[in-house]
Amino acid sequence: MGMTVGIVGLGTMGAGIAQVCLEAGHAVVGVDGSAEARARGLETVARGLDRRVDKGRLEADARDAALARLTAAEAVAGLAECDLVVEAIAELPEAKHALFAELATVTRPDAILATNTSAISVTGIAEASGRPGRVVGLHFFNPAPVMPLVEVVRTALVEDEAYAAALAFAEGLGKEAVPCPDTPGFIVNRILVPMLNDAVRALAETGADPADVDRAMKAGAGWPMGPLALIDLIGVDVQVHASEAIAAGLGDAAYAPHPLLLEMLAEGRLGRKTGHGFHDYARP
Ligand SMILES: NC(=O)c1ccc[n+]([C@@H]2O[C@H](COP(=O)([O-])OP(=O)(O)OC[C@H]3O[C@@H](n4cnc5c(N)ncnc54)[C@H](O)[C@@H]3O)[C@@H](O)[C@H]2O)c1
Repeated sequence: MGMTVGIVGLGTMGAGIAQVCLEAGHAVVGVDGSAEARARGLETVARGLDRRVDKGRLEADARDAALARLTAAEAVAGLAECDLVVEAIAELPEAKHALFAELATVTRPDAILATNTSAISVTGIAEASGRPGRVVGLHFFNPAPVMPLVEVVRTALVEDEAYAAALAFAEGLGKEAVPCPDTPGFIVNRILVPMLNDAVRALAETGADPADVDRAMKAGAGWPMGPLALIDLIGVDVQVHASEAIAAGLGDAAYAPHPLLLEMLAEGRLGRKTGHGFHDYARP
């Protein structure tokens, strides 16, 4: 049976998560702080569903039915009927804490409140909500309609039933739902972020050519994309932020971003989005 899912923040992640929920048969109510972002988000969802039809992965009728289940609300008050809400707003602890406190007052007491945060403590968000037994992390990967993984983050405060329901929800989306304790970086970023820093360290210390570092890891370690190309794709700024968040969360400077990344950040060499990173790209 389809649920009613609220999505708060219809940016890159929120729009993708909305699309995934619609394709799984749920009704979606989208909320964004800005009317312009809300309109853009709804357009992105529609375009995403169109692409699925173009690729032959979704029937045109199913696309139309999915779009008919998508509505927008101006404020979180419009989420009163939701079974589950996924928050995908900016990565700012105070903003998320304030939003969850508000969500707890407007949603049903049995609703599940999920955050898509990459690096903020889910436990802290749960405490700020005043309804910690109903709060989980649902960490989707970008692009959400394509990447199979959802880390289902469990705090010590969540009710067993709410956590089990969140896990079942992620599985019902057709995702690889992986249970994951609430620790900095969860599972993937705890492993991947330092590995990418190590690739930068190897580059800086060996003087190897960046293209050769990437070719070597593809051909020798089976990586689908070289580590430096991957940093260019996710953004040097994002890699720096993720490294700093994990280092701070664990109190371990070994996770800090490599100095070469900080230089690139200062120079605005952020990767694909600026046209230059470890490699050069045509301007986006
Ligand atoms: N982009 C990624 O690769 C990625 C991957 C996994 C998780 N995340 C996490 O997902 C979250 C969203 O990231 P994103 O890249 O989609 O950001 P984004 O900037 O693309 O989108 C954020 C959206 O939230 C809206 N917003 C901001 N504050 C709001 C508020 N208080 N109430 C309602 N709407 C608000 C903005 O208008 C914007 O449309 C972050 O917590 C991020 O860490 C991002």
